[in-house]
Amino acid sequence: MSHVRHALRDVVPIAEEVEKSGKKVLHLNIGDPMVYDYRTPKHIWNAIFENKKVSEGYSNAIGTVGARKAVADYAKRTGVPNISMDDVVTFVGGSESIINFLSALLNPGENILTPCPGYSLYTGQINFLGADLNEYYLDEENNWQPDLEGLEKKINNKTRAIVVINPNNPTGGNYSKSTLKKIIDIAGSHELPVFSDETYDQLVFDDEKFYPLAFLSKDVPVICSGSISKNYLCPGLRGGWLYKRDQQGVLEDFFEAVKQLSRLRLSTVHPTQFAIEAALNGPQDHFKELVTKLQKRRDATFKRANEIKGLSLVKPKGAFYAYVRINLPIKSDKEFVLELLRQKGVLVVYGEGFGQKSGTHHFRTVFLPNEQTINFAFDKIEEFIKEKFL
Ligand SMILES: Cc1ncc(COP(=O)(O)O)c(C=O)c1O
Repeated sequence: MSHVRHALRDVVPIAEEVEKSGKKVLHLNIGDPMVYDYRTPKHIWNAIFENKKVSEGYSNAIGTVGARKAVADYAKRTGVPNISMDDVVTFVGGSESIINFLSALLNPGENILTPCPGYSLYTGQINFLGADLNEYYLDEENNWQPDLEGLEKKINNKTRAIVVINPNNPTGGNYSKSTLKKIIDIAGSHELPVFSDETYDQLVFDDEKFYPLAFLSKDVPVICSGSISKNYLCPGLRGGWLYKRDQQGVLEDFFEAVKQLSRLRLSTVHPTQFAIEAALNGPQDHFKELVTKLQKRRDATFKRANEIKGLSLVKPKGAFYAYVRINLPIKSDKEFVLELLRQKGVLVVYGEGFGQKSGTHHFRTVFLPNEQTINFAFDKIEEFIKEKFL
């Protein structure tokens, strides 16, 4: 396991040490809205309580009919045609769907294209499987859109799929329709499926529009991963899924492997199935307030990060992460982040944990807390930079 890392969790033991020494730590390292002023919509909990008796037993390993049908209907509502519950498997969060997908797909020595910077679970699991990392860059100078030329050049005869994370963690980028179509075309011309991680699909700001990748693909196979964790403010309930859009039937064997892997662990989490169903089929009223609140907090983060000498930030268009560039004479952003934690009690995640172009340095922060907390955090970061560099 020594080569398996997940940066946003790896900083926690160090923060605990700092806390033990008596210093208060402001945790901006993890995308958990429930640490702040958000609550799970009530009807989701009600659905769990109403199904207590049946939830005490095992559920189906690939998810209940109700939850899988809810995901299929959700996909249809977002414009993706011809999806039925047979195309859906539910999981213990989007995380398990990603772990399962990579495990079913990759043999040692094969590779899958993943974005850089990207979500560190992919890197961790690819390393765990003995598969090879093959990263394509997201371009900071172009609103963090993928570098498509670079992406295509990275494809080789051991490449098995292309991963797209949209809206993106850690950059907050949201991809344009034309970018997504180009990715689909590249995948099609190399006969590769696309894996689209759409965990944050309902959290986009300003006049941005989110496009489900499976909606844009005519004949290129797409596997989409989703989750109730962030959109429905309940990461603790651990509800996620995969659905496939497979017009040519090329993913049948692969999808059977996904199901077989799920069967190994007997059952998915039964109460969560009712949460998925209630979230996707029930009232969607919380989104208006949620997106407005996040957008204000995004604005505060964007303003402060660009005001501080030595930092810059491309405006996040979705999700709730800001990938702040550090334009200071530092050797490593890990050192910067750990020193910031020890001296000022502000915990963010170092760019090395997500990947970045060589010669650049970043940290990822969340803009989940209220503006006052965001301003406090940036005051501390500013103090730290002034004391150390200016
Ligand atoms: C891009 C992305 N995918 C998947 C996940 C997994 O989330 P969960 O397992 O809570 O559904 C996360 C969580 O932060 C994420 O950022």
